[in-house]
Amino acid sequence: MLSRQPDAIIIFDFGSQVTQLIARRIRARHVHAEIVPYNANIARYNNPSVKGFILSGGPASVYAKGSPQADPRIFTFGKPILGICYGLQLLAHNLGGKVERGEKREYGKAVLTVRDRGRDSLFYKTPLKQTVWMSHGDAVKKMPKGFTVSATSAHSPCAAVSDRVRKLYGVQFHPEVWHTEFGTAILENFARNICNARPQWTTRHFVSGAIEEIRAAVGKKRVVHALSGGVDSTVLAVLLKKALPSGHVKNVFVDNGVLRLNEAGQVRASLSSLGLRVKFIDASKDFLRALRGVTDPEQKRRIIGRKFVHVLMRQVSRGDMLSQGTLYPDVIESVSVRGPSDKIKTHHNRAPEVLHLIREGRVVEPLKELFKDEVREVGKELGMPDEILWRHPFPGPGLAIGILGDVTEERLAILRTADAIFMEEIRRADLYQKITEAFAALDTSRAVGVKGDEREYGYMILLRAITTTDFMTADWYRFDADFLARVGNRIVNEVRGVTRVLYDITQKPPGTIRYM
Ligand code: XMP
Repeated sequence: MLSRQPDAIIIFDFGSQVTQLIARRIRARHVHAEIVPYNANIARYNNPSVKGFILSGGPASVYAKGSPQADPRIFTFGKPILGICYGLQLLAHNLGGKVERGEKREYGKAVLTVRDRGRDSLFYKTPLKQTVWMSHGDAVKKMPKGFTVSATSAHSPCAAVSDRVRKLYGVQFHPEVWHTEFGTAILENFARNICNARPQWTTRHFVSGAIEEIRAAVGKKRVVHALSGGVDSTVLAVLLKKALPSGHVKNVFVDNGVLRLNEAGQVRASLSSLGLRVKFIDASKDFLRALRGVTDPEQKRRIIGRKFVHVLMRQVSRGDMLSQGTLYPDVIESVSVRGPSDKIKTHHNRAPEVLHLIREGRVVEPLKELFKDEVREVGKELGMPDEILWRHPFPGPGLAIGILGDVTEERLAILRTADAIFMEEIRRADLYQKITEAFAALDTSRAVGVKGDEREYGYMILLRAITTTDFMTADWYRFDADFLARVGNRIVNEVRGVTRVLYDITQKPPGTIRYM
């Protein structure tokens, strides 16, 4: 947080799955953007640091009974408003236009023909023809008085509209998704040129603000910080080290028994290279006992989350603070809109014990305003090496959700070795940085193989490697055939109990990155 309020754009969330991306695109251009539920108290945002509003997309129909509506006071503040998809339909619906069910749902890429590229247009300095991403069932049939059309597409005569006098803008497409070629430029035009928001959201500002915030929150107390070796918790550990006197931070690493091969050793080495002292707690036996016989992935997650919190809380003495690398996507308030983005992940960062400490004012979460890519920038600003900042994500429940069945010591040992071979070959081929996330999983149904003269039934190892920028969509990585042959051979030859190796060629969506 900045000690001074930076200029900001407020995004009202009407339940689209990609609302977060709007904030990310705007922040990527150094303008602060904040997401709030559509029904947040709007009076709070009628202050000089708020330079404009965005109404997000959403799954509802504006004319349907009970659909989420914009607070009409928003039109009286005189601040610019951009409506995206459902947001555009809200503008039309509220100001005297007409929205109807379209003949056909329009989904996918469309070519936009731009009519207006003036300085106060969303399309300033972008091409006359550009590719955009559409996803809507309803469409604006008639715009309210005062609006003109600034871009069209084959199926959307009102693909972009504006009322320059009232500073109201609307787009039927989604500028926030990567498939919209000039999406970031469009959002930047809105934030910078139309709203006149200054680019005050920089990592340097953030770092000094976060250090101030940590010092103010912690005072002379001690902070217990759980480190996983991942980007977020490591960046936070470096921030804590900068902010507080040595001896006031207790870094803790918990071995939950479902770590990758040598994970703890690698984390130890990388943390010590940053000058961080860490207490390692081996709780693996405890975790594995609790996981015995459990096959349901969500139950595995719950067990691991609960155990983790128990182990961690034993390290927090009375009067200690707790710090967590909670990020912005974890804290954006859930909106009460029915739709796919409604699903809320339970997170150990919000376990009952942690909530209790939060109520007592004993939790510091200085990264809670940041997205992952912003955390990396902060790490860079703090002088951290790329190999830590670009570490692939590894979920807390780790190998437990990589075993597609119950977790046993034997299966863990097999999966660990197979996964280590895959990762070793990826590094050797210099592909680690080209891939966002790679891992092996173990299918517990048995497949036949021949080893020597005998038929043998063994496990199947599934390999997955994906590239993504936002983790909401992902593509499988195109390895060359020789690479796959090498990895496959090594795994079946070097890992006892494995008879097959399969490479996953499923995109997300519809597949997810992990198997369970
Ligand atoms: P999916 O499988 O949902 O994964 O496409 C998206 C991202 O989330 C990670 N993931 C998890 N991270 N605990 C975590 O900390 C979990 O239980 C969990 N499940 C999935 C996954 O690795 C990917 O980066």
